[in-house]
Amino acid sequence: MRRTIYFDNAATTFPKPECVHRAVIKYAENYAGNPGRGSHKMSLLSSGAVFDVREKLANEFSALPERVAFTANVTESLNMAIKGIFEFGDNLLISNMEHNAVLRPVSTICGEKNGTYDIFDIVHDEEETIKSLKSKLTRKTRAVITTHMSNLCTVTAPLEIIGQFCRENGLYFIVDAAQSAGRLPIDMRASNIDMLCITGHKSLYGYMGAGALIFGENVEPAEIRTIIEGGSGVDSVPLTMPEIAPERFEAGTIPAHAIVSMGRGLDWVHYVGRDKIFAHEKKISEVIISRLSEIDGVTLYGAETGATVLFNISGVEPSDVSMRLSEKNICVRSGLHCAPLAHRTLGTFPRGAVRIGIGAFNTEADAKILCDEIRAIAQMQVP
Ligand code: ALA
Repeated sequence: MRRTIYFDNAATTFPKPECVHRAVIKYAENYAGNPGRGSHKMSLLSSGAVFDVREKLANEFSALPERVAFTANVTESLNMAIKGIFEFGDNLLISNMEHNAVLRPVSTICGEKNGTYDIFDIVHDEEETIKSLKSKLTRKTRAVITTHMSNLCTVTAPLEIIGQFCRENGLYFIVDAAQSAGRLPIDMRASNIDMLCITGHKSLYGYMGAGALIFGENVEPAEIRTIIEGGSGVDSVPLTMPEIAPERFEAGTIPAHAIVSMGRGLDWVHYVGRDKIFAHEKKISEVIISRLSEIDGVTLYGAETGATVLFNISGVEPSDVSMRLSEKNICVRSGLHCAPLAHRTLGTFPRGAVRIGIGAFNTEADAKILCDEIRAIAQMQVP
């Protein structure tokens, strides 16, 4: 049997760099006390390790370390951001490429609090995005929420111009950077981002289990409603969460092992070179796109070079394609990828499609094997 070829990096990157494993083992074996929960040596060392990661993330995204609140994942961060700012009767604007991590909390909070939401376009050019935003803006609009980079294809939102629009109109700007954190440069100050939602296990090359909600400098933490309450390690008497960040947003024990992995993953990304990794992924996607576009029966969607390639084979269900590839020891993800709205935008709803998710460790040789197997599946369909 051939070795496993992993092309599901948009779901989670694999493998993780060796240094990430080593950092977590060192932490786990030596000083993994509960951070922020004691004054003994191990708790303090553990708090220090976690604080180092706050600083690294703050540097990466142009934020302040005390404004980096750790969460379990990007979905939790988005729920906290969206539900934390929402007031009765508000309107929210979301992009047409959103994942359910945005769509579901938006729909739920609007249902619970008599709100509304509308959808703007990020698929076309910047001018179209602003025109679309302007046409949807109402007196009740509280926030704009957008994915930075689609989990399906190469669509990316123009953060700076959307951030400018939000500033001019007094709106919160919330960004889902699940696929872009560690892959693309993100400057919260320059892009006027109020809440940046990230996860550690994708292009930051950490383990699953930790994400972050990072607040911009214009946000007043005490004004953001909490959706999870509990122990914060400080100020234990009041029945409400502390007003200061990050404690206000970190109820309960934080996922310190995964946080440590995210910090070392980010170190690794910079050691190799963030832009260099993305250029490598683009190169691999170029090989894949050029080979797949020559195969009869294969349709590509949003096919520009990037970290993902989305396709279908005529006459074969996407789930059958991924199953047949899995039988050949190749991992891809098919279906709706928890993003039915984005699939509607691309015209691939309700069938979905097959997604190739590229990462730092993929090679051109892997890409060629993958394309040969896809060709074989497509040819089986040709009478
Ligand atoms: N959101 C992840 C994906 O796109 C899990 O596969």
